[in-house]
Amino acid sequence: MSNQTTGSSQGTNAASRESLISFNSVDKIYGRDSAAEESVAALEDVNLDIERGEFVSVVGPSGCGKSTLLHMAAGILESTNGTVEINGIAVQSDEHQRNEVGLVFQHPVALEWRTVRKNLLLPVQILKENGEIEGDMDHYRERADDLISLVGLEGFESSYPNELSGGMQQRVTLTQALIYNPSVLLMDEPFGSLDAMTKGELNLELLRIWNETEKTILFITHDLDEAVFLSDRVVVLSPRPGQIVDEIEIDLERPRSEDTRGTERFVELATELRQHFKRL
Ligand SMILES: Nc1ncnc2c1ncn2[C@@H]1O[C@H](COP(=O)(O)OP(=O)(O)O)[C@@H](O)[C@H]1O
Ligand SMILES: [Mg+2]
Repeated sequence: MSNQTTGSSQGTNAASRESLISFNSVDKIYGRDSAAEESVAALEDVNLDIERGEFVSVVGPSGCGKSTLLHMAAGILESTNGTVEINGIAVQSDEHQRNEVGLVFQHPVALEWRTVRKNLLLPVQILKENGEIEGDMDHYRERADDLISLVGLEGFESSYPNELSGGMQQRVTLTQALIYNPSVLLMDEPFGSLDAMTKGELNLELLRIWNETEKTILFITHDLDEAVFLSDRVVVLSPRPGQIVDEIEIDLERPRSEDTRGTERFVELATELRQHFKRL
């Protein structure tokens, strides 16, 4: 964890000044405004502050509102009550800069007819065509080269997505999320469909990238070991409507390595987290 402040002068209270991402008394009820008879309470009274530079994972049973939480932070979904702020600015407000946030979902979003390099530049092209960003492409082309080497895709720039393994495809997705150099990465079970070995490899890669780029990461997973391995803090959501019922500080030394998983402390923390889960 870093002690840096966000540098924002727009926060209205101490908590929002210190945290980069903050959920303030957030509820999400689906279908309340529609004609549908049944509404679904997905999240209830979620309060969560994530400091700049922190790596926080959210775990919870299937359907408890994890993706909903992440989509609200991304500004894709509106909260029913409460606010979500990034850098002290409500994500639903006009002042919020979408480029501050990079998104990674479980399934790769690369287009099969474009090479790795062209896929990586896709988000830039889209925003440029929408008139949401200006400036020359050269800056982003240079950045694309840096990202290709950052995530270990050298030699694959001209490959097409279907020539790559699932793990390599998720590396491409990661570069797309990083192209604007956002301060926040929001990741929704990004390695959920990978085999255990590839997942382990990408866990290490992600920690290296996080360390090198000093991002703030909100990571969703249902894999408790993965949450412990990666995080500074793990937040546990109850079954729907998701409420934060527990929070565990992960005091494992960094940098972490494959050996970390064999340490006594790792086993203790993972066991503790499992017990929290059993009580749900
Ligand atoms: N657009 C929607 N309309 C109605 N209900 C939804 C919608 N999206 C998700 N839900 C419901 O909200 C709950 C939380 O969903 P989600 O956030 O996807 O859970 P998780 O990611 O933890 O599995 C689930 O019960 C789901 O069925
Ligand atoms: Mg989900």
